[in-house]
Amino acid sequence: MVMRDTNDAAVAGHFDSAGLPLGTGTVPVSAPVQEVKHAWRLDDGQQTLVMTTTNERLPQVVYWGAALLEDEDLHALHHAHRIDVTGGMLDENPDLSLCPEAVRSFPGQPGLIVRDTDGTPLLPKFCFEAAEAKGNSQLELVYTDHDNGLTLTFHFSSDADTHVMTCQTVLDATRPVHLHWLAAPVLPAPQQSDEVIDVSGRWCGEFQLGRTAWSAGMRYRENRTGRTGHEHFPGLIIPCTGATNIQGEAYAFHYGWSGGHRMLAEELQDGRRQIQWGHAARMETAPATQFKSAPLYITYSNTGLNGCAVSFQRHLRDRIITWPKPDAPRPVHYNCWEAVYFDHKLPVLKDIAARAAALGAERFVLDDGWFGKRDDDTRSLSDWAVDPRKYPDGLTPLIDHVKALGMSFGLWFEPEMINPDSDIHRAHPHWALGSEDQTLGRQQKALNMALPEVRDFLYDRMSAILRDNDIDYIKWDHNRVLPMPDAAQTRGSYALIDRLRADFPHVEIETCASGGGRIDFGILQRTQRVWLSDSNDALERLRIQHDAALFLPLAVTGSHVGPRKCHTSGRILDISFRAWVAAQRHMGFEMDPRELDDHEAAVLTEVTSWWKANRSWLHTADILRLDSADPAVIAEQQQARDGSQFVVFAGKAATSAQIAPRPLRLTALDPKATYVISLINRDTAPMLSRGTPELKRTDLQLSGAYLMRHGITLPWSFPERMWVIEGKRL
Ligand code: GLA
Repeated sequence: MVMRDTNDAAVAGHFDSAGLPLGTGTVPVSAPVQEVKHAWRLDDGQQTLVMTTTNERLPQVVYWGAALLEDEDLHALHHAHRIDVTGGMLDENPDLSLCPEAVRSFPGQPGLIVRDTDGTPLLPKFCFEAAEAKGNSQLELVYTDHDNGLTLTFHFSSDADTHVMTCQTVLDATRPVHLHWLAAPVLPAPQQSDEVIDVSGRWCGEFQLGRTAWSAGMRYRENRTGRTGHEHFPGLIIPCTGATNIQGEAYAFHYGWSGGHRMLAEELQDGRRQIQWGHAARMETAPATQFKSAPLYITYSNTGLNGCAVSFQRHLRDRIITWPKPDAPRPVHYNCWEAVYFDHKLPVLKDIAARAAALGAERFVLDDGWFGKRDDDTRSLSDWAVDPRKYPDGLTPLIDHVKALGMSFGLWFEPEMINPDSDIHRAHPHWALGSEDQTLGRQQKALNMALPEVRDFLYDRMSAILRDNDIDYIKWDHNRVLPMPDAAQTRGSYALIDRLRADFPHVEIETCASGGGRIDFGILQRTQRVWLSDSNDALERLRIQHDAALFLPLAVTGSHVGPRKCHTSGRILDISFRAWVAAQRHMGFEMDPRELDDHEAAVLTEVTSWWKANRSWLHTADILRLDSADPAVIAEQQQARDGSQFVVFAGKAATSAQIAPRPLRLTALDPKATYVISLINRDTAPMLSRGTPELKRTDLQLSGAYLMRHGITLPWSFPERMWVIEGKRL
């Protein structure tokens, strides 16, 4: 029996859906209940995604969150999900489907905007065509619009180990059409959430997290720089109310594309929220019969932001990256950029290489300055031939020397770029992308990577160098934004990297773009390391790598010990702090080793040995960000997959407000287990630490419950210092 509150009925009876007065006493007739036609689910043990459809329409996600019962009634979910209709609303709420359709009165941003080649806007309206599911882990849904000759295919896959789901939309057309906007499968955002966290940044200040409160309307980010960009890393986290690093529910997204993207988080008038991701609008510049969104990676966690972070870290390391030697340890790097810049002199480089090897380096990377007439950054990009003035006998003498020291050899390239002052620009000015009078960036233009002859030229030059020299590593740079976003440019870059990787499968590639300007899962399908930032300032790096860990694992995140006085901040930092910050990720050095005094060399050697001794388990460890009670302390716990050991890095980024350190709570331990805790760099406690906290004296045995509920009581320290605590489960 349906119970009605007569007062409500009377009130409702005064207005129709347009807000106009109705005849007295009538109750608006609700739309007939529409039958659920299809229902699908994806599961990975941690999260469930349920999609259902009314009639033959596009499906909508009616549930996304913690795993549901295996026998959950999906039809019941469909009906339970339906929201009410009152005055001022349409008679039925338009679906928030996988691709919201303007033509079906969806009141928010549509998921597809497409035009005929004569400019006529198409108003697509899709109907079910086919579905194919493999268990609860793979799903393909096909929808067609026969009138407009369009087909949409949605791909989904789940991963029971990493708990990341991958979604993609493909649009096919029976004739070439112009694409303005195509969203990857559109997902609803949780309602029990107060804010979204997205990522911005700048040169030497990557991965800055910004929080924006939900409100009516949208948070719209559009990256039109043509590369992933420092400014707009394509990631989004939606914490549910009360979530922190270590507790609560959170949803996270990453769009795996290197060419610039659009993200919108929109709250509709009815309170529903939608998240859309796609390539930046209008970056498909030519009409075509097929368009694809990039893969959208999504994950749900009920263990705070860390649950999302761990899923992305594992998925990137174990599913996306292709490692030339999966079982080989990550070598300690030496990069000569901040030691010599463009001033390459063979005897100096040999001396530096010998010193780097003595400190523990295992790979020597020769940075910018080895080719053309590259004496500064005004010339020679694209003249990829060894500079005979600097290297009269080619690179072989340096490489032989490096190899004799037990290191492998890596080389810097910036393939997509060209200086107007270069032989190649003089010969082929039309190879450059954009107008002749464009504003240059670092005195350079980008090459048009959509041109096959440009890609062939780059392949020929680069492959000749890789063939003639014993090189196992490329630092692949991209130091300016594009004159305009163009998907063909990104596809051209991908094609060149793929071709080189196919022919030189042993060569690893580091993605760099003035530091972290091209970091995303698209480029990382083809590369193995990110140059996270041009800032080798350990204090800034501590923060950047902490926030980047929401998406990136240790194994891919380069971090170098910089010069005593940082070249990008002027800050002077203690060697111990510099070394430990680098040891938090894939470690390397980037200072002139001739500046090191004996003490600095000894500390660096010691920390490097620690890193080498631990890297085999650190490589696959999860990085868990801690909820530090002291905002001056940036802390994380790197934990072995089996929980048997961990290391905590507690970096003191500033002077604390209170005088004594606050206990630091750990996370994800077994409350019933006992752990041996050891402050491994206790010897570096400053004289002003006068008391006797136990950890300063000895190792401690404490329960997981105590470590998570009370936390570790650390000795006092100066700012710009790092405490390193090892833990082993007994
Ligand atoms: C960029 C990189 C640096 C260095 C220089 C060389 O700025 O981020 O690490 O390789 O180019 O020009």
